[in-house]
Amino acid sequence: MTDAAQIRDRFRSVFGGAALICRAPGRINLIGEHTDYNDGFVMPAAIDASCWVAAARRNEHRLVVASENLREQCEFDLSAASLRPAGKWSDYVAGVAVVLASEGVRVPGASLLVSSDVPMGAGLSSSAALEVAAGLALTGLARERIPPGRLARICQRAENEFVGTRCGIMDQFASLHGREGHALLLDCRSFEYETIRLPQGASIVVCDTRVKHAHAAGEYNRRRTECEEAVETLSAALPGIRALRDVTLARLRQHQQMLREVVFRRARHVVSENDRAIAATRALREGDLRTFGALMQQSHASLRDDYEVSSPELDAMTSIALEQPGVYGARMTGGGFGGCVVALVDEGRAHEFSTRLAAAYESAVHLRPAIRVCSAGGGAEQIAGEAWQA
Ligand code: GLA
Repeated sequence: MTDAAQIRDRFRSVFGGAALICRAPGRINLIGEHTDYNDGFVMPAAIDASCWVAAARRNEHRLVVASENLREQCEFDLSAASLRPAGKWSDYVAGVAVVLASEGVRVPGASLLVSSDVPMGAGLSSSAALEVAAGLALTGLARERIPPGRLARICQRAENEFVGTRCGIMDQFASLHGREGHALLLDCRSFEYETIRLPQGASIVVCDTRVKHAHAAGEYNRRRTECEEAVETLSAALPGIRALRDVTLARLRQHQQMLREVVFRRARHVVSENDRAIAATRALREGDLRTFGALMQQSHASLRDDYEVSSPELDAMTSIALEQPGVYGARMTGGGFGGCVVALVDEGRAHEFSTRLAAAYESAVHLRPAIRVCSAGGGAEQIAGEAWQA
């Protein structure tokens, strides 16, 4: 795991001089999947793995960005009238710079060193963590303080408008607002949120299937379009609805015949998942882990059957997890098509759970998974430290 002193030293050896250090965590989502872009509810938690960015100003109006993970360096001319995406990791940084500038922030030329402990492509929001860490670094160098809610939306716009993935607000918001030992309940329409203490005695176990689907971004955007189609069609019968958030399960069933079969199933997932996120909040507040776990299982089934964003490996990991002693619930987490399962497990049995699950998954799927007990960590931060303004 990286720390502030390490990245500061490495920045000095790559670029020379002092740096502003920023850290932004990845996230897991406990429940409320594919609800954020439907104005619904999500329950993510920041994890204890982060993307680190060390940054300092340059005299020229360019960004020079080096990735330690990929051993690659990219450069962008910030004065260029139209900075175009290059189709790689550095787009997340360039996109944030472009959107910040469009919002009036005077982004200075800068050198950035990126080092991330968030596994890439595992559904733990490594890209949102990079956007947020870069956003904090660039605003820090510009000497601007942007409230976290606004910065989350800027980073989301970078991904929507520059990178081209129509993601919702959950990942960037969770990275910026995470709180140690807590999950967040976020209303993705009003951006109001509350922190909910995770119950003592339960561990979050993140189970990486080690499989990533190549067409995930295209399928993700297609799901969004299907949700929009549902709202547009239903609004003929339900005037005033703006998003699936405004539709109840009873109303959806009543008007089922208006929708294409596949669109009905997409909508049923979203509407029922919103109800589950609310019910899960109640269960968590009451320390009712059995109910919480049952809701996780229902969420997985709905994502697999109605929303069709699971994968054979995610299904295998989930069902093997549910066979292990000490488990309350398990489900795929994040956008889907690969990545991770999140399990809620009795604290005293989390180690045994992880070992047994790893062995059983490997013998069923012939892939070695990465399984680790994870704690909910604090949100993104600027760690100024020494005189980085040099
Ligand atoms: C990805 C997106 C989020 C959210 C999830 C699904 O992680 O970035 O905005 O839509 O998928 O819940």
